[in-house]
Amino acid sequence: MRLDKALASSGYGTRTEVKSLISKGKVTVAGKVIKDPGYKVKDDELNTISVAGSIAEIKENIYLLFDKPDGVLTAMEDKRLPHVGQFIPANLINRKISPVGRLDFHTTGLLILTNDGELSHRLTSPNYGIRKVYEVTYEGPALTEAQIKEAADGITLTDMDKPVKLHPSVLEIKEGNRALLTLTEGKTHEVRRIFAHWERLVITLKRVALGTLMLDNNSQEGSLRELTSEEVDDLKRLTGLITEPHQEDGKQ
Ligand code: URA
Repeated sequence: MRLDKALASSGYGTRTEVKSLISKGKVTVAGKVIKDPGYKVKDDELNTISVAGSIAEIKENIYLLFDKPDGVLTAMEDKRLPHVGQFIPANLINRKISPVGRLDFHTTGLLILTNDGELSHRLTSPNYGIRKVYEVTYEGPALTEAQIKEAADGITLTDMDKPVKLHPSVLEIKEGNRALLTLTEGKTHEVRRIFAHWERLVITLKRVALGTLMLDNNSQEGSLRELTSEEVDDLKRLTGLITEPHQEDGKQ
């Protein structure tokens, strides 16, 4: 990992601030002053980085994109049911990663897993209004302009003790009882509850996008990959965690 990236992702400042610290000679690795922000820190040097004379606590974050299959619980562990943890390689399982938000047992598609708690919070908290796009196939009469308008105005659900007014959402009606619904809140079973409110039965539900991330058209259920550093930076920029443009690992 690049030295400036290791320090920036561990809370020692923005990439620009840590570059300045490094070029001023305030950072050592294995006891040697390193003035090159792009210095590649070896795994066994990670616990030897010091900033202004104190050993730095380096947090190496992991960001994974999982295409969740149907019939899999959004949980790292479960004694009875197939769960997301079973798809994670052993070398990553003990890195304290957890799913960002939750998809129902029968919902498929895009699920991020990370040990970056702040990013996870920002991607799921309704306060940040991060958009999540769901592709739905449903049974019942075709949806109409009336539902598009109701979604845009903010649907009021009445399936609980008290009516709940949802944030405005965007409904796009597609051919063949298919629709795309874009939400920014993430209430429990929100899509299924909206469709029940419209007296339509959800047959399949798949999350196809979250913030700046989209599931590839040819993505295979059960596939898992690391996000690129550009994808991570895009999510961080979207949630206000960074303001700087993306910097390639190889560049300074
Ligand atoms: N809304 C739902 O109803 N289920 C999900 O899994 C996600 C959003």
